[in-house]
Amino acid sequence: MNTKPKILITGGAGYIGSHTVVALLEGGFEPVIVDNYCNSQKWIMDQLKELTGQIIKEYTVDCTNLKELDTVFENETFAGVIHFAALKAVGESVSEPLKYYRNNVGSLINIIDLMSKYNVPNLVFSSSCTVYGEADYLPVNEQHPIKTAESPYGCTKQMCEQIINDCIKSKKLSRATILRYFNPVGANTSGLIGELPIGTPNNLVPFITQTAAGIRPNLTIFGDDYNTVDGTCVRDYIHVMDLADAHVKSLENMESKKESFTLNIGTGKGSSVLETVKAFEKVNKLKLNYKIGAKREGDIEQIYAETSLSEKTLGWKTKYSLEDAMRDAWKWQQYLDAK
Ligand code: NAD
Ligand code: UD1
Repeated sequence: MNTKPKILITGGAGYIGSHTVVALLEGGFEPVIVDNYCNSQKWIMDQLKELTGQIIKEYTVDCTNLKELDTVFENETFAGVIHFAALKAVGESVSEPLKYYRNNVGSLINIIDLMSKYNVPNLVFSSSCTVYGEADYLPVNEQHPIKTAESPYGCTKQMCEQIINDCIKSKKLSRATILRYFNPVGANTSGLIGELPIGTPNNLVPFITQTAAGIRPNLTIFGDDYNTVDGTCVRDYIHVMDLADAHVKSLENMESKKESFTLNIGTGKGSSVLETVKAFEKVNKLKLNYKIGAKREGDIEQIYAETSLSEKTLGWKTKYSLEDAMRDAWKWQQYLDAK
């Protein structure tokens, strides 16, 4: 008899979702994926099968389609939901705000409605450190005020957090853990799954690996006269496998304590763009072609997480270093190039 708790993973074919599927299987859960593949590819399901040796159940469903999503909840008995499904391109959200509000906020409303209808108790939600804006102090803790969102994307994360908190208050939702991710990077150490950016990457690490692979002629570092250790911006880069693990711990924690939480998920360590490039070069024994360019509009100078609350609450700590992440990101890029 299969008694493993079944967990719905929306956006499970995506970057963080696919890594979390692996972590859930390792943690004794049965993941069920819902994805509409608007920012992922179906062959990731084969990769997951190769990596885990298991066939993972998946539904090709759009979370904004309440009727179709309802049939998934009707067919399965979930012990929890990890809601990754969202659009995440900050620039696109500025030019197409309604697409972002409809997709990101609409999906969450449907998920909560169905969790309520089918009595599913535990929700884990993907939020972002973007809710803090330019932090007033560092490391930034969960009590830091929420700043006016810089983009419609950031605004959807703030709105979703608010919706979740309102629904907990009204008892429409039993409990939730809101995870505010810092900068997820790297790939599964196997090199079989990783980030799949469509078109030119906006984020640093895929840009680094594509430059090293010769897909891009060079990386442009956006500004070197910030008030930081070496003048380049500072972020808290967290290995995606550590991040995935935090989701499993969040489910276990909520189930045992029957409470809701809002937690930072980062390493607590800031790294500059130049330090990140150097880590990539060192661990992979490569030289990266890069130049210093103009600042990117709207960039935060530096941000990194206060992690004591998440570590204490979840009994979780990061295991991987920035160099590990750079090694695994490169392994994944090489896998893609050979494919
Ligand atoms: P991703 O684009 O790789 O994965 C998202 C997945 O959701 C994709 O597979 C996409 O096809 C799917 N999806 C989107 N809208 C959907 C819908 N309406 N119905 C069904 N499926 C849908 O992104 P990711 O990096 O894995 O991010 C996962 C979550 O984490 C997102 O909510 C994102 O906003 C959040 N987040 C990501 C980062 C980051 O840097 N990657 C940082 C902070 C927060
Ligand atoms: C991005 C998202 C933000 C999200 C965060 C966490 C954007 C605009 N913002 O921001 O909403 O919360 O990730 O995952 O996408 N850099 C370069 N050259 C490049 C690319 C990036 O120098 O070609 C620098 C950036 O200036 C920044 C750092 O690298 O200082 C990291 O950039 P990026 O990966 O885009 O992450 P965030 O800026 O943190």
